[in-house]
Formats: sequence, structure tokens, C-alpha cells
Amino acid sequence: MALILPILLAVLASVLGGLYMLGMFRKRRPNEPPLDKGTIPWLGYALEFRNNTAAFLQRMQKKHGDIFTVQIAGYYFTFVTDPLSFGPIVREARTKLDFEQFAAELVARVFGYHSGTNDHKMLEKASTKHLMGDGLVVMTQAMMDNLQNLMLHNVGAGNSEGKWHQDGLFRYSYNIVFRAGYLALFGNEPPKGKEGLEAAKKHDRDHSDELYDEFRKYDKLFPRLAYAVLTPKGKMEAERLKRLFWNMLSIKRTLQKENISGWVTDQFQYRAENGMPEHMQDRFMFLLLWASQGNTGPACFWLLLYLMKDPEAMQAVSEEVQRVLKETGQEVKPGGPLINLTRDMLLKTPILDSAVEESLRLTAAPVLVRAVKENLNLKMANGKEYAIRKGDRVGLFPYTAVQMDPEVHPEPEKFKYNRFLNEDGSKKTEFYKNGKRLKYFTMPWGAGTTICPGRFFAVNELKQFVFLMLTYFEFELVNPNEEIPPIDPNRWGFGTMQPTKDIQFRYRLRY
Ligand code: HEM
Repeated sequence: MALILPILLAVLASVLGGLYMLGMFRKRRPNEPPLDKGTIPWLGYALEFRNNTAAFLQRMQKKHGDIFTVQIAGYYFTFVTDPLSFGPIVREARTKLDFEQFAAELVARVFGYHSGTNDHKMLEKASTKHLMGDGLVVMTQAMMDNLQNLMLHNVGAGNSEGKWHQDGLFRYSYNIVFRAGYLALFGNEPPKGKEGLEAAKKHDRDHSDELYDEFRKYDKLFPRLAYAVLTPKGKMEAERLKRLFWNMLSIKRTLQKENISGWVTDQFQYRAENGMPEHMQDRFMFLLLWASQGNTGPACFWLLLYLMKDPEAMQAVSEEVQRVLKETGQEVKPGGPLINLTRDMLLKTPILDSAVEESLRLTAAPVLVRAVKENLNLKMANGKEYAIRKGDRVGLFPYTAVQMDPEVHPEPEKFKYNRFLNEDGSKKTEFYKNGKRLKYFTMPWGAGTTICPGRFFAVNELKQFVFLMLTYFEFELVNPNEEIPPIDPNRWGFGTMQPTKDIQFRYRLRY
């Protein structure tokens, strides 16, 4: 008996400790947002959140209103769904709401990369220098050269004129834009021997195509990898792919290329100066490849598809493209030089800009997450204040909160190419909710300190791709009546969405 009591007490203590760890005792305190732990201990709403983030958050918003705390895999997330109240979260000091902790855990799991100090600063510095302002002029030219190599290497060769090719529109767009973006950032094969430049260009085409195939394998595994729910077979494959990319993108290999972007070389240099071991820098390169190439290709697919399904939009964009070419004295003609699209030209396309913004509104859906470093009070736009606990997380999902809100964007499910244009043709930035002007009316790039540093380059890539498609190719859907495929709900939260299935199209060179 003397022995049984301590054993029973120990069992009771560990059961209570376990239940505590599982979050069973958490109660809503005064001034805290509504708390919903779900029915499964610890997991809470993890499964519903993962299966369809958008549907889950819409359901919770209906149930609880504009702010609520839900349990997801052991963490308590407070979601704010009123876009008028986004400001304080996006602008809150990092000492209170920090993004790096959450990001560091995720990148360690998915890329095997363990970040060092000043990581984010180094990324910001290289991005400001090379993906914005004057740096963007160089990057736009590099992207153009590589798009031409991939899309137009047959122009004038006489062997492909008039011949129709059939492909999946998603596959085609993703493949071309991934490869051109990769080559523009990570460099080209240097010309060697007597075959010289043409052989090097062919090498770029073949090598980037192989890399794309491997990247897509990883891309498909990505959501399950991020949620740590891969099968053992999936885990092995993800591990193989990670190693392959660490090796393919390693510093040693990359430095053998030419035309490597300043964005990539500066990252090498900053990290080396910061004492990061080379093998870890190789892993970082995979992260850069993912961040830079995982979204733009799918975004090009949606843009082209929306234009193809909307003849009025297609005509408006085509006329604008023709006008810009004419203004710069360029004409596409058989045997003539390839057109060049500079950064300056891409600044003169308000209609295409609006179409890009609109297709991103419909298909870019990141979840923005911040870790709560100290207890804080969150003031909502309606004046109410809520207490948020240290150790929790705060989340925003602008897709349902604002991008698809019919009050902000009437008929939100429709693609309206001129939604972001004023009557006088200038860029529209005035959108309202509850009669108040919104600062955050669409957020494909996130916001605040973590806003996508590649956004200007990405928009240029999208526009260059559309420009070249419209000027050099005839293209059409194989079945013009086929509906736009639905969004794959497994990828909510990771950036640009992908379709549940591809849609066949055919294309041929005009010249
Ligand atoms: C349509 C294309 C793209 C979309 C929709 C997109 C969207 C995003 C979003 C939503 C984030 C995270 C924001 C957050 O957590 O608050 C992000 C981060 C990032 N993006 Fe993009 N992106 C695109 C293209 C690009 C390109 C072309 C590059 C580089 C050339 C790039 C580089 C990055 C990097 C490095 C980060 C991490 C930033 C950090 O850790 O602070 N992205 N992007």
C-alpha cells in the first residue's frame, strides 16, 4: 500500500501534466478573443485547417466574428479577419510579433536550412539592391534573354513555323517561367569549345528542363512536407530531392556559371562573411530557388488562362502590348530581330498591370504568421481591444478576409481585368469596407517586414511572359468551352495556388 500511493500520485501527475500539455485546461480569460479548441486534444483543428484553410477560416469567421483563437497542432492561433484591423499586426514591432521564429522552424523542416543571425537583413539587403530599382533593369534583361532562349530559339529557323504544339497550359507556363527565372538568377552555362554559344544555350535549355522535372516532384510533396505528414515513402523521396538540389545549386557548381545574378552572389558573400559553413549556404540556395520559382510560373498560368477565357480582356491587353511595341519602334516581322522588352517599357502597361493584380487577387493566398513574444493588446478598427497571450501565434489570411470579400471587390469570384483601373485609365487604389478606405485591399505578396522582396521582379516576369506569348504565338484552348479548373485546396497558405487539373491548349509560332 505504501508503494501504491506514490505510484498513483505519479501517474495522476503525469496524466494532468499530459492534459495540460495538450491544452485541455486553457480557458478564455477576460478581454481575450473567443477561444475554440476543437474536439481533438492538442490537434484541435489541425486536420480541418490543413484540408481546406479557406473553408475552415470562413466557417470560424461566421461562428466567432472578426477575431478568434483556434488550436492547431498544439499552438493557439489568433486569426484576425477584418482587413481594417490588419495595420497594427503588420506594423507591430518584432519584439512583440516576430516572424522569424515561425519561418526558421519551417525552413529547417522543408529545406534543411538552419538560419543564422542577421539572416533576414542579408536577404533584404541583396533584394533591395538587385530586385528593385536599378538592379531590376539588369534582372529584367537577364530574364528576357533567357525567355527568348527557351521560347523563341526556333524563330526563323523555318522548322517549326505553322506547326501546332499541344501541351497543358499549367505545365507549359510553369516550365518556361521556372526555367527562365532559374537561369536569370543562378546563371548560364559558359560557352566552351568550337560549338560555343549555341551549344551553351542548348545546355541551358536541357539542364533547366531536367531541373524543372525534379522541382515539380518536390513541389507536389511540399504541402505535406510543410505539415510534417508525409508517408515514409514520401519522406524518402523528399530527402532525395533535397540532397539533389543542395548539390545542383551548391556554391561550387554555381560559381562555374556565368551571368550569375548579383542577388545570388551577394547572398553567398554575406553569408560567408557571417561565418556560415558552405554546406549550409548550399541549402540556402535551395530555399532561394523555391521562393523565387515556386509562385511565378503558376501565376503566369492563371493570368494567361483568365485572358484566354475573356476575349474583351485579351483584346485590351493585346492592344496595349502592340501600342508599347510601336512606341519603342519595334516590330515583329519574319527575319527581323527579336523584340526586346526593357524595364521602362514594362512601366507603361496599366491595363496589363490591372490584369496581373486581378489574377493574383484570385489565386495568391498566403497565410501570414507571427509569433507572440510578449503579452499584448490588439486594437481592432471598431475600437475593441483584445488581449493576446505570449507564446501564441497571430495569423492573417487575406484571401478570404479581403481578396474575396464582396463588399470590397463586388462579384469577387469573377475575373475583371480592369478592376484595378480608374475610369481615366490610372491605377485604382481606393477600395472601401464599412465606408472606410482600406490600406490592404489585396495582399498577394504579404505585408510588412516579410513582404515578398521579389514582387517587382515577379510582376516583370509575368508581363514579359504574356508579352512574348501575345507577340510571337497564336494559342488557343483545345476545348474553348472547358471551364477554368478549380483551385487545389491542399495548397492554401503557401503563395500562388495551383489548379486541381491542367487544361490543354495548343500554340504555334507566328514567325
Ligand atoms: C507571383 C509570384 C510571387 C508571389 C505571389 C510571392 C509571394 C510571396 C509571399 C506571400 C511571401 C511571404 C510573405 C510573408 O510571409 O509575409 C514571399 C516571400 C518571399 N519571396 Fe516571394 N512571391 C513571388 C515571387 C517571388 C520572386 C520572383 C522572388 C525572387 C526573385 C521571391 C522571393 C521571395 C523571398 C526571398 C521571400 C522570403 C522573404 C523573407 O523571408 O522575408 N518571390 N513571397
